[in-house]
Amino acid sequence: MMQRSSSSCSVFALLAATANALNTLTTTETSNGFNGPAMGWSTFGFQAINPTIPGWAPLVQSNVLEQCNMMASNSDLKGAGYKYCSLDSGWSADGADTYGRVLFQATNFPDFNTTFSKTLHDNGLLLGVYVVPGVIQSDVGKTIYKTDIKISDALQVQDGNHVDAGNDRYAFDYSKNGTQQWHDSVVALWASWGVDLIKLDYITPGSCNTNASYPACDLPGFPIDSSGTVEAYHTAIKNSGRPIRLDISWKLERNNTYYDIWRANADTMRMDQDINEGSGSAIFVKWATVQRAINNYREYIALQLPKNTPLSIYPDMDNMYVGNPAALSGVTDDQRTSIMSHWIGAAANLMIGSDLTALDTHGLALLTNPAALAVAAFTAQFPMQP
Ligand SMILES: *[C@@H]1O[C@H](CO)[C@@H](O)[C@H](O)[C@H]1NC(C)=O
Ligand SMILES: *[C@@H]1O[C@H](CO)[C@@H](O)[C@H](O)[C@H]1NC(C)=O
Ligand SMILES: *[C@@H]1O[C@H](CO)[C@@H](O)[C@H](O)[C@H]1NC(C)=O
Ligand SMILES: *[C@@H]1O[C@H](CO)[C@@H](O)[C@H](O)[C@H]1NC(C)=O
Repeated sequence: MMQRSSSSCSVFALLAATANALNTLTTTETSNGFNGPAMGWSTFGFQAINPTIPGWAPLVQSNVLEQCNMMASNSDLKGAGYKYCSLDSGWSADGADTYGRVLFQATNFPDFNTTFSKTLHDNGLLLGVYVVPGVIQSDVGKTIYKTDIKISDALQVQDGNHVDAGNDRYAFDYSKNGTQQWHDSVVALWASWGVDLIKLDYITPGSCNTNASYPACDLPGFPIDSSGTVEAYHTAIKNSGRPIRLDISWKLERNNTYYDIWRANADTMRMDQDINEGSGSAIFVKWATVQRAINNYREYIALQLPKNTPLSIYPDMDNMYVGNPAALSGVTDDQRTSIMSHWIGAAANLMIGSDLTALDTHGLALLTNPAALAVAAFTAQFPMQP
C-alpha cells in the first residue's frame, strides 16, 4: 500500500508539472517544406573583412567557386552535409532586365546562369542569392513580365511620389495588381537558373541598425512595415514550383502579429543584426558580439515556450566564424567550440563564414564532428530551450 500510494503520487506530480511548466519545444515542417536549418557557406564574412585578409576581396565567380567547391571536395565537409553556396549583397546588378527582373552582376559573374550554377549543382551543391524589398528606382517605367502593368502602377504612392524602400528601391503596394506578378517573375527567373535559397534582407519591423536591445527599431528612410514582401516572395516561391528556402533578415520584430507572418512564410529568421566585425577589420568576429547573438536566441525562444506550438521557422544566428585559427576568426579555440555548440543547440542555420581553404584542424573537427551533427539532427526537432 505504501509503495503504491507513493508511486501514484509521483506520477501525479509529474503530470501536473508537464501540464503547467515543462513544455517541450518541437518543430514542424517549415512553410516552404523544409525540416531543418540550412547548412553551407556564405560569402558575407569575406565581403565584410579587411580585403587583404585572407586574400580575396571582390565578390567574383572564381573566388566563390574556389570556396564553395571545398564543400564538395573535402570529404568530411561533404559527409557532414554542407551544401548551400550563398551569395550575399553584390551578386546582383544595379539595373534589371526589360521587365524589371533582377539580374546577376555580369562583370563579376560572367557565367552565372550557365557554368557557375551548373558547376555547383554538378558537385551536389545548392545556390543561394540575396535580395532586398522593392524595385530598383530606375526600373519603375518597365512593364511587368507577361502583364500590361507598369511597375510604377504597382508601387506605393505618397504625395505623388513613390515610397522609398531603402537601398535605392521603391516600395511595392502589396494590395495592387502587378505586385505579386513582379515577384513571381523574379523568382521564376532565378528558379530557371537553379537558385535554391533566397536571403531577403532589410525586412521591417526589424532590421534595426543600432545596438539597442530588442525591439527598438530606428532605421531612418525605411518603411516601418515591409512584411508584405515576405508573403510575396513566399507565394512566388510556391508559384515557381522549385523547392527554395526563404531566409529573412534582420533582428526581426517578435511580437505575435509579425511572428505569425514570418513563420507562415519563411524558413529561417534572423535573431540579431550582423555579428561580423565589418570592413577594415582583420578578424571575423568578436566574442562579445557572439554573446549578444546567443542572448537574442534566448530571448526569442523564451517567448515561444509558453505558446506550446510547434515551431515552423528556424533561427538564423548569422554565419559561423569557427573554421579558421583564432588569429583570423577573432575568437579563441574554446570560444569557437562554444559558438558551434550554441548554433547547433538552437537549430540555427549552420552557414560557415570562414575561409574554407584555410580551415585548421580544430575548425574542421568542429564543423564535421559526427556526434555533434547527431545532436544537430536532434535539435532540429527539439531545439535548446532555457
Ligand atoms: C542567362 O541570363 C541572361 C540574362 O538574363 C540571358 O540573356 C540568357 O539567355 C540566360 N542563359 C541561360 C542559359 O539561361
Ligand atoms: C491584373 O492584371 C492582369 C494582367 O495585366 C489582368 O489580366 C487582370 O485582369 C488584372 N486583375 C485585376 C483584378 O485587375
Ligand atoms: C506588434 O507590433 C506592432 C508594430 O510594432 C504593433 O502595432 C502591435 O500592436 C504589436 N502587437 C502586439 C500584440 O504587441
Ligand atoms: C555596438 O556593439 C559593438 C560590440 O558588439 C561595439 O563594438 C560598438 O561600438 C557598438 N556600437 C554602438 C554605436 O554602440
